[in-house]
Amino acid sequence: MAVLGIESSAHTLGIGIVENGKVLANERMMYKITDKGIIPSKVADFHAGNVREAVHSALRHASLRLSDIGAIGYTKGPGIGACLQVGNVAALSLAQRLRVPVFPVNHAVAHIEITKAMAGLADPVALYVSGGNSQILALVGEPFRHYHIYGETFDIGVGNMLDSFARSAKLNPAWGSTVAMVAKGGKYLEMPYTVKGMDFTFTGLLTNATALLGGGKTLQDVAYSLQETAFSMLCEATERALFLTKKRELALCGGVAQSARLQEMIGSIAKAHRIKFGVAKNEFNADNGAMIAIVAERMFESGRAVPLSECTVNQRYRIDSSVVV
Ligand code: FE2
Repeated sequence: MAVLGIESSAHTLGIGIVENGKVLANERMMYKITDKGIIPSKVADFHAGNVREAVHSALRHASLRLSDIGAIGYTKGPGIGACLQVGNVAALSLAQRLRVPVFPVNHAVAHIEITKAMAGLADPVALYVSGGNSQILALVGEPFRHYHIYGETFDIGVGNMLDSFARSAKLNPAWGSTVAMVAKGGKYLEMPYTVKGMDFTFTGLLTNATALLGGGKTLQDVAYSLQETAFSMLCEATERALFLTKKRELALCGGVAQSARLQEMIGSIAKAHRIKFGVAKNEFNADNGAMIAIVAERMFESGRAVPLSECTVNQRYRIDSSVVV
């Protein structure tokens, strides 16, 4: 029986279909971000206008009909409220029409679980890095089975920081991947490095990098130093969590996990500790519907129905308040 997952927490509309943990389709449509960043109402309009076509496209790729879908999952949060609501309404409408159960999924749990599934990991320390989030997590069993947050950003996500810098530097597209491109071959400039235990902050680093740009340093050197400093902070905090938890696996997930440099740096920690390192293909690190479908399928198989009253959205849905089945 196939499960359809809807991801709509930010600028990507994703529809995934899985069956027995195997991804049959993973359609993604992306709202084009302007120099003003993400405008929630415009992105929600984009998702609402495309969700029907995206569902049909996913069904075509999976060679299935709508009636073959046995359960629906959607992103409950965290994310942008207006965008989450589009996915929520689409999921509830489809579930009612098909008379199948619907499962609200935590976006961060989905990022980690699809990485574990794709990389063959069982119980890793996970570094989850995206636009809105940067956290170091691992599964614990008490008082319920959930991801405990060992460390996290005290201000903005590392992806948001890199995107903001890209906008200040007038890069096009204004993404972290463009920062990585211009950083190649740069020289290191000293920058603020803020790690407190397993927590970290990025806004001071961003302010400093933006000021250096205006102060006559080259874009190449500033971009290089910004990226190296931010990723080194993540590495130090992650390594500390490994020592504390004594886990033997390390996962890198979320949108920023697509960075080849971050993969190299986190991978080198795993190598030094002789533990298993896993990262999914880029398609599954970016926001996608397959990750939502994978978690929804497990929730369905667990036999625990979710009451309709819990099938809402929550912009600040913390990963440590979400039960992992
Ligand atoms: Fe994400």
